[in-house]
Amino acid sequence: MAVRLGMVLEQVYLGGEAEVRIYEDIVEKIRKPKRYRIPQLDEILRRRRTKMEAKIISMARQNGVATPIILDVEGDKIVMERVKGEPVKKIMSPDISKMIGKAVAKLHKAGIVHGDITPMNMIYSNGKIYFIDFGLAFIEDRIEPKGVDVHVYFESLKASFDNWRELKQAFIEGYVEYAKAKDVLKRAEEIAKRGRYVERITGPA
Ligand SMILES: Nc1ncnc2c1ncn2[C@@H]1O[C@H](COP(=O)(O)OP(=O)(O)O)[C@@H](O)[C@H]1O
Ligand SMILES: [Mg+2]
Repeated sequence: MAVRLGMVLEQVYLGGEAEVRIYEDIVEKIRKPKRYRIPQLDEILRRRRTKMEAKIISMARQNGVATPIILDVEGDKIVMERVKGEPVKKIMSPDISKMIGKAVAKLHKAGIVHGDITPMNMIYSNGKIYFIDFGLAFIEDRIEPKGVDVHVYFESLKASFDNWRELKQAFIEGYVEYAKAKDVLKRAEEIAKRGRYVERITGPA
C-alpha cells in the first residue's frame, strides 16, 4: 500500500464486497476478489464495478444528494473524502427519515437505483444526509427496482426501530417529491406482500 504522509489508519471495515479503510481525512474502498471467478474475468468485473460506483457517487452529488467527494479511482480502489458525522442509525427520527425520503426521491428522479438503502449506508453531517455506499447501485428507470429500493429501506426500519411505522410515514412525506412516488410506493407494498407469501410457504429466510 502506498504510504501517505500524516495519514493514520483508524479503522478497517471488512464487508462482503469490499474492504474499507478509514484514515483521518480520506477513505479507501477496495473491492475484494471473488474466489469462485476466473481471476482475469474477476479483475475486469471488479474494475468495472468500481468505476460504476464512483460514477454513480458523483452523479448522485450532481443531482443534489450529498455524497463523499471522489478523490481518485485506481483499478479496484476508490479514494474518497471521509464524511465525519453521526451514523444515521444512532440519530434516526421522523425528521431524518423524511430527509432520507427527499434524497431517495432525487436519486430515483435521476434514474439511480441505490440497491441497499439502510441506515448503515448513510452518515448525518452538517445538517445533511450523506449517502456513502453505492456498491450495489445501478442506473435504471423502471418502477420495479425503485420499488425494491423503497421496500429494502422499510424492511431495514422494521429490523431496527420500534417506531418504524412513524419513520416509514415520514419517509413517504419526503419521497412524494418524486413525480412517480405513488407508483413506486404501490409497487413496494406489492413486493412486501410477495415476500410475506414466500415466507408463509417456505418459512422465514
Ligand atoms: N466516505 C466515508 N466516510 C466515512 N465513513 C465511511 C465512508 N465510506 C465508508 N465509511 C464507513 O465504512 C463502512 C463500510 O463502508 P461501505 O461503503 O458501506 O462498504 P460495504 O459495501 O462493505 O457496506 C460504512 O458503514 C461507514 O461506517
Ligand atoms: Mg455498506
